[in-house]
Amino acid sequence: MEIKLPEPRIKGEISLEEAIYRRKSIRRYTSEPLTLGELSQVLWAAYGINIWGKRTSPSAGARYPFEVYTVVSSVEDLDPGLYHYDGKKHVLKLIRKGDLREELARACLGQKCVATAPVNIVIVAHYERTTSRYGEEE
Ligand SMILES: Cc1cc2nc3c(=O)[nH]c(=O)nc-3n(C[C@H](O)[C@H](O)[C@H](O)COP(=O)(O)O)c2cc1C
Repeated sequence: MEIKLPEPRIKGEISLEEAIYRRKSIRRYTSEPLTLGELSQVLWAAYGINIWGKRTSPSAGARYPFEVYTVVSSVEDLDPGLYHYDGKKHVLKLIRKGDLREELARACLGQKCVATAPVNIVIVAHYERTTSRYGEEE
């Protein structure tokens, strides 16, 4: 089953410069759920499609070795579970139902912030997509 995500917003409320100026890592979160629009925005920025029909992030030789998944725990109008993000269609596909944060936190060497985040984004690399063209060297 595919879940259509809200269309990404192209204009934000603050400039890129201001976002960079204000950024820092945080590991404590409020109990407020994310909206589906907020999740859509983050996934699109990570690996969506832009005005040229290209990915929002570049890739050596256009091999695009990444796949983006999200472990959802607290998002409005979305069941907890592991989802695959299809950036070309801007949809989510449910892979596994349930709140999988604790399991993911164990896989991340017991990091508490992973177990308390309303959403985790998991990016995996299929190395062979790149090495089949460029070989194993760095
Ligand atoms: C490649 C990479 C991996 C990271 N992995 C983790 C991580 O597993 N857990 C975590 O809490 N922070 C992680 N961080 C965040 C860094 O700890 C953080 O960026 C660093 O402490 C500097 O703080 P700042 O982001 O507030 O500038 C990672 C950052 C990068 C760039």
